[in-house]
Amino acid sequence: MSVIDTIHAHRSIRKYKSDPIPDAMLNTILAAGIQASSSGNMQTYSIIVTRDRYLREQLYEAHYEQSMVLEAPVLLTFCADFHRMRHWLRISSAPDNFDNFMSFMIAAIDAILVSQNVALAAESQGLGICYLGSTFSNCDRVGKILNLPANVVPVVGFTLGYPNEDPPLRDRLPLDGLVHQETYHDYSDAEIQEIYREREVKGWDRYMSYPRLRKMIIDSGVENLAQVYTEVKYTRQSHQAFSRKVLNYLEAQDFMN
Ligand SMILES: Cc1cc2nc3c(=O)[nH]c(=O)nc-3n(C[C@H](O)[C@H](O)[C@H](O)COP(=O)(O)O)c2cc1C
Repeated sequence: MSVIDTIHAHRSIRKYKSDPIPDAMLNTILAAGIQASSSGNMQTYSIIVTRDRYLREQLYEAHYEQSMVLEAPVLLTFCADFHRMRHWLRISSAPDNFDNFMSFMIAAIDAILVSQNVALAAESQGLGICYLGSTFSNCDRVGKILNLPANVVPVVGFTLGYPNEDPPLRDRLPLDGLVHQETYHDYSDAEIQEIYREREVKGWDRYMSYPRLRKMIIDSGVENLAQVYTEVKYTRQSHQAFSRKVLNYLEAQDFMN
């Protein structure tokens, strides 16, 4: 498949065959992944390949018991990592300027770019992936399980394996609603309604098709998709708690000086 075709065929895969991924294939995928652009060409990230069942069982809990963490043969965790670079600076008598939030963001951007390159490389080889938001929202637990030293923070991660399902493509907001020509064009109410028109129906129908979410939606009495997002899925309380957790972890990992 061409790169464009691979990108257009993407769907998150949440059910996997137990077949292992051959080492040679995984290496090819990772080698392609690390060709991503990298700030200052410093490669301030680490990729952790987890196959071990015991570790995946621990990660399964940190990832809110999402079954794909146990089902997929491989879990990849992409970490912002200035630990390696700072070690090199230290033994090279070079000043160290990388224990701050700016450095975390530089490393996080690198890690995210690599992760999506790896995802596309994997999909081009017939494998499936599903990102796990808990990699970041539970970064402290994930970091502990993966034995991360200071200056290393898990940012994104995904399950990887041979798909055991063939889900339909999911919709995206229309291109016109996402792209601005030359400078930012702010939206009128009518434009916002048009951009979200299809999503309001498809998104609502999708959530209502999952028994657990359907029950939560009915119990909470929300009436539209926008309310589902902020009264059921991403509440102010949970977002504030996760924000505090992440900031505390960044502090503990020596990124907030
Ligand atoms: C950063 C990030 C975190 C995600 N976390 C989860 C997750 O924890 N569980 C899950 O089932 N899907 C997760 N997803 C997948 C999204 O739900 C999915 O990409 C989106 O619904 C679009 O569907 P598609 O990938 O099949 O096109 C995540 C995606 C991203 C980019």
